[in-house]
Amino acid sequence: MSEPKPSLLPEARHRDRMEELRRISGEAEAGGGPERRGREHKAGKLTARERIHLLLDECSFEELDKFVRHRCVDFGMQEQRPAGDGFVTGFGRIDGRLVYVFAQDFTVFGGSLSETNAQKICKIMDLAMRAGAPVIGLNDSGGARIQEGVASLAGYADIFLRNTLASGVVPQISAIMGPCAGGAVYSPAITDFIFMTRETSYMFVTGPDVIKTVTHEEVTKQELGGAMTHNEKSGVAHFVSRDDADCLVMIRELMSFLPSNNLEDPPRRATSDIPARRDESLNTLVPADPQKPYDIKDAIHSVIDDGYFFEVHEHYAKNLVVGFARLDGRPIGILANQPAFLAGVLDINASVKGARFVRFCDAFNIPLITFEDVPGFLPGTQQEFGGIIRHGAKLLFAFAEATVPKITVITRKAYGGAYCVMASKHIRTDANFAWPTAEIAVMGPEGAVNIVHKRELDKVPESEREKLRQEKIAEFRERFANPFVAAERGYIDAVIEPADTRARIITALRALESKRDTNPRKKHGNIPL
Ligand code: HXC
Repeated sequence: MSEPKPSLLPEARHRDRMEELRRISGEAEAGGGPERRGREHKAGKLTARERIHLLLDECSFEELDKFVRHRCVDFGMQEQRPAGDGFVTGFGRIDGRLVYVFAQDFTVFGGSLSETNAQKICKIMDLAMRAGAPVIGLNDSGGARIQEGVASLAGYADIFLRNTLASGVVPQISAIMGPCAGGAVYSPAITDFIFMTRETSYMFVTGPDVIKTVTHEEVTKQELGGAMTHNEKSGVAHFVSRDDADCLVMIRELMSFLPSNNLEDPPRRATSDIPARRDESLNTLVPADPQKPYDIKDAIHSVIDDGYFFEVHEHYAKNLVVGFARLDGRPIGILANQPAFLAGVLDINASVKGARFVRFCDAFNIPLITFEDVPGFLPGTQQEFGGIIRHGAKLLFAFAEATVPKITVITRKAYGGAYCVMASKHIRTDANFAWPTAEIAVMGPEGAVNIVHKRELDKVPESEREKLRQEKIAEFRERFANPFVAAERGYIDAVIEPADTRARIITALRALESKRDTNPRKKHGNIPL
């Protein structure tokens, strides 16, 4: 037998493999092809890969599962098995910090979720949990892949489970950049923050056609579930962006306030804003007339580093302002009653908005600063029938269970139950300040006088009644509607000059840097949902 000739086969095979690698890689990167990509661009949308490129630090993206293909053989699907199956998943960096990311590619089967690309998402979520890194999902999908039936539904449920288990462990951010319909909405809904792009995104459980059949209502996709609907009316979404690029910049910005996981502190950023900076304008911010509104955002902007406030839920329940800022370079979460909207009253929507924000900050070690000017809970049958008792209790529960540093500044009204709820001393707030303009009482002077002095007022002739009433109101205001009664009891640690608010909060924050507080051991509390 002759010796086999030395062959070039291994090299040829090597060359072939390299070509195959490039071919498959190119196939995955091409998505649904130039025509479909063009359609997306024309609609004002970017593709999944373009989005990831803008979201992450330059050249930091490491893709996983580019070679995954679906396994469906029904409805001729075996003829179309694109590499990557339409979802782009992997990890990268934002400001040098690790994040995991997935993006649904609408150009491939309408971004629909197959069994295999559900597995791709689950893989990066599992990795993120092990690494203690945030997960960012860029959603643009027609929902469950219809051809795959229950296998696709199972994929959703696998993701929902991971969303739930990751909640409070790593930040989870969702951007809705196209359709997000049916049960698919529940993954973003479990995550911490939802961004929506104006005009190009929508979310709903059942679409306009089904609604028309069932309830005979006629509504467009945008009216039903567009960005402003969810930012203004439902409160499902927290942010609205002009377009895709704007959305991705906003996500990067949000990330700058958040730690990577629940065991880390949020990242500090150096600032040239002097901690002891005074602002004399705060001394005259609150109008002399207690019925007159003012904008609490003036106080917020004045106190925080460089006046930079990253507002959350800006368009929803405007009577309570919430958002992130920095003090002394350190990220903080701010909650503030807004006297310029509905007199800053607490209603159902504001309570739920505030409770969710408090819980997020507490889960991720972000100190809470509360500015309080609240006349109470909103009266009315609509609120009572809607369950203001249950919803208001959420805010109370959230503040009470929060163990992060908590600081409150009462600028004006702190009346009734709302005084207790808004991070009062009694529910473990560490530092409670009041401006001299603060009014801390069971209720406003007018209401109090009408009840306490009712008999006395009824006795006097009608012509003298109003004069007496005004005297009693003035007397009540003098006696109770001030911060000194509460300060005498130590419920207020200090009555401060408004101009010094920044300095006082920063000093308190520094003293609380090493704060450790815990709740009793339990499986979990039972917040009144
Ligand atoms: C498979 C899908 C798909 C889906 C869209 N496509 N949705 N393929 N499964 N769910 C495909 C289309 O066939 C089309 O393929 C391409 O994606 C683009 O879709 P178009 O309809 O041409 O785009 P457009 O006109 O922009 O409409 C987008 C859409 C519509 C509104 C999202 O496609 C749509 O209504 N899709 C179905 C939505 C839906 O009911 N999904 C199931 C929801 S229930 P070609 O090849 O023609 O380009 C659900 C359950 C989750 O998701 C359960 C969790 C518990």
